[in-house]
Amino acid sequence: MGMCLCLTVPGRCLLVLGLKLFFLIPAGVPARSGEPGLKDNITVRQGDSAVLKCNVDSKVSRVAWLNRTTILFAGNEKWSLDPRVVLMENTAVTEYSIKIQNVDVHDEGPYVCSILTNKKPKSTKVHLIVQVPARITNISKDVTVNEGSNVNLMCLAVGRPEANIMWKHISPWGTHRFVTEGENLELKSVTKEHAGAYECIASNDISTPDYQTVQVTVNYPPFISKARSTGTPVGQKGVLQCEASAVPRADFEWYKEDRRLLNGLNGVKIENQGKQSMLIFFNVSEEDYGNYTCVAMNTMGITNASIILYGPGAMHNVNGAATLTRCSTRLLLTVTSLYLLKF
Ligand SMILES: *[C@@H]1O[C@H](CO)[C@@H](O)[C@H](O)[C@H]1NC(C)=O
Ligand SMILES: *[C@@H]1O[C@H](CO)[C@@H](O)[C@H](O)[C@H]1NC(C)=O
Ligand SMILES: *[C@@H]1O[C@H](CO)[C@@H](O)[C@H](O)[C@H]1NC(C)=O
Ligand SMILES: *[C@@H]1O[C@H](CO)[C@@H](O)[C@H](O)[C@H]1NC(C)=O
Ligand SMILES: *[C@@H]1O[C@H](CO)[C@@H](O)[C@H](O)[C@H]1NC(C)=O
Ligand SMILES: *[C@@H]1O[C@H](CO)[C@@H](O)[C@H](O)[C@H]1NC(C)=O
Repeated sequence: MGMCLCLTVPGRCLLVLGLKLFFLIPAGVPARSGEPGLKDNITVRQGDSAVLKCNVDSKVSRVAWLNRTTILFAGNEKWSLDPRVVLMENTAVTEYSIKIQNVDVHDEGPYVCSILTNKKPKSTKVHLIVQVPARITNISKDVTVNEGSNVNLMCLAVGRPEANIMWKHISPWGTHRFVTEGENLELKSVTKEHAGAYECIASNDISTPDYQTVQVTVNYPPFISKARSTGTPVGQKGVLQCEASAVPRADFEWYKEDRRLLNGLNGVKIENQGKQSMLIFFNVSEEDYGNYTCVAMNTMGITNASIILYGPGAMHNVNGAATLTRCSTRLLLTVTSLYLLKF
């Protein structure tokens, strides 16, 4: 096909060949000039400006800057339509440099300064490398699941070089732990220990790492963590405390034997504060002593604990027994001593 064209229209064929020679030789092998002229790579951050430097001498007849095979500047004439590409104010006669403003990832690649001196082409090639700080672009939304479910978390990030993604678990129980590397985090059959914040950390050493967190809430049935019996004398204010750990937070009910106690009735008040419930007796009477039940419940389950309100008598009895034991030991010792002294 090309040969045919050359035969029929030899003039045009030569012209095409001539153009190819002018542009392709500098872009490709530096040919006979003997100087390869490959400068160091230029590394810039996305958004910054890149200055591509080219040194020329007074014998130069033609100069051009190319992006791959596309001419950006030919002499002082701008060929590129991109407003970000500008010719530097090259004060020195020996400099022919351009600037690319607001560099983007597409700008990465080889740039060639093509020089024609005494009909000999020469070129300077620079490789533009564009760096992008690691940045999280999409991350899972906060989730609430029941104990036993599986949870899959995802964290997507961009960056050049490619961002390294890591997950860190910040537990509400105060522990920090790196869980895994990679975009996806799979939690199988979660327990309440899996709850907390999951921090995704994307880094690539270009700038400070990017962080974002996902909150994982694990619903679990209540368990009573505090239910202490209390001794209170008649005529005083008495308080029974019950504490339950649960997600969602537990609701409380109080019972004495089978009878449900209601707030404000029979001289008692029920006060709930967070995970704690208090049964308050305004003025403890003899009939108030006994066995109470604190019931804690949420959507996940129900549990209860027994709490005794006892009087000073009961307390005295317990202490009394201990005192008695100590007394008898001492008495025994005294008796033994006396017995020994006698002999
Ligand atoms: C320039 O970058 C290219 C591609 O990233 C790489 O292959 C080459 O080794 C680098 N050259 C220098 C001198 O850093
Ligand atoms: C360089 O060429 C690439 C590929 O054609 C293009 O996407 C990019 O915008 C160009 N950059 C400049 C500064 O001309
Ligand atoms: C984030 O990823 C999810 C799941 O792949 C997708 O449904 C959602 O559209 C993405 N959001 C954004 C802002 O890209
Ligand atoms: C508590 O009750 C007793 C008898 O029921 C009464 O004598 C006493 O005044 C009461 N104390 C208070 C502080 O209300
Ligand atoms: C209180 O009652 C519960 C059952 O309602 C029982 O298991 C527990 O032993 C009782 N405690 C005392 C000290 O009587
Ligand atoms: C407390 O729990 C026991 C066993 O789980 C149950 O048999 C009892 O009825 C419960 N008591 C109350 C007052 O809910």
